Amino acid sequence: MSKFRTLDDLGDITGKVALVRVDLNLPMKDGSATDVTRVEAVKPTILELTDRGAKVLLLAHYGRPKGQRHSTMSTSFVQGDVEKVLHKEIMFIPEVMGPVVEQSIGILGNGDIGLLDNVRFWPGEETNDPEFVKGIAAHGDFYVNDAFSAAHRAHASTEGLAHHLPAYAGRAMEAELKALDAALGNPEQPVAAVVGGAKVSTKLDVLENLVGKVQHLIIGGGMANTFLAAKGVDVGKSLCEHDLTDTASRIMDEADHAGCTVHLPYDVVVAKEFAANPSSLRTCNVHEVANDELILDVGPLATEALGDVLKTCRTLVWNGPLGAFEIEPFDAATVALAKTAAALTQDGSLTSVAGGGDTVAALAHAGVKEDFTFVSTAGGAFLEWMEGKDLPGVAALTA
Ligand code: 3PG
Repeated sequence: MSKFRTLDDLGDITGKVALVRVDLNLPMKDGSATDVTRVEAVKPTILELTDRGAKVLLLAHYGRPKGQRHSTMSTSFVQGDVEKVLHKEIMFIPEVMGPVVEQSIGILGNGDIGLLDNVRFWPGEETNDPEFVKGIAAHGDFYVNDAFSAAHRAHASTEGLAHHLPAYAGRAMEAELKALDAALGNPEQPVAAVVGGAKVSTKLDVLENLVGKVQHLIIGGGMANTFLAAKGVDVGKSLCEHDLTDTASRIMDEADHAGCTVHLPYDVVVAKEFAANPSSLRTCNVHEVANDELILDVGPLATEALGDVLKTCRTLVWNGPLGAFEIEPFDAATVALAKTAAALTQDGSLTSVAGGGDTVAALAHAGVKEDFTFVSTAGGAFLEWMEGKDLPGVAALTA
């Protein structure tokens, strides 16, 4: 892993202005956040900086306002939720640069926090306009990036600022980069990857990258049906991208050459409709799926075998559920395998790293989110990292 500076490399920061990029893109309902995990994640960084006497200016985007002020997308909407998590009052500043920001910094005492407005209200954010970057940078003494989940964007606040101010990874970013390095950068072998989710088309690059890096590739979710179809299995009415069966075959060939075992379910849970506990529910061998049936989960025998695979591994990276986990009983395989992974992690035999919106929800549903070595709250950034891409926000910190 390339080296990056952390808060440990900061000297005396009393009275200094810290521009801190955080991800406050929170899911909201009726004016308050339904999940504050992202705020919890950046809390240690913010409080460390305030405890050390810095004036902290939080820089974030909220939604996709496309370079214009949008009344429903101000970061002021999340101010209350951030204050609740931090147990601190925050000053909302309706700009990201200029006299209003300068005056606000004058009002803030050492250890106080200001929240700048949605940086995406200005077109220079997404174009990474050097003048825009300079305008923001002029207010800060140093820059901290604690928003791994936005690090796949080469924007002014995620990338540009790192070239204009002394730049540091915040504590959440630091933990994320260390965990990701332990999972795929420099992992203990053997490594298993679970890749699930509905469609192969959204995860082609992930699969291509993983076959060269892991010893066991466990494919679940709707994606598995495309792979089964590529092997000549009749998947009935199941979700399946028939136009991608050649691609699936090629990925399996590549895996073969690289010494990576691809695991597909050999028993499955099927039903005639996607509904909770349908009367047509049954478990069968993959070769016995009827024309009017849908595969909705990995079966119990295959799930147990996958658990045995994990027992032989030292590292696990997980993205995407194994079945249609939102509806019972199609959550069973995901829950069972997540519990096995959690138990192995707690025993100290497995380093387990998971990420992606659905995955976090699935692990929380299984009650094991806290038992994994690391669970990333990043969606797109986690996926791009699994694709083996360089993330501009990370590259700028390690340059
Ligand atoms: C996220 O919510 O995943 C990040 O904040 C990135 O948001 P974006 O996809 O709008 O860039």
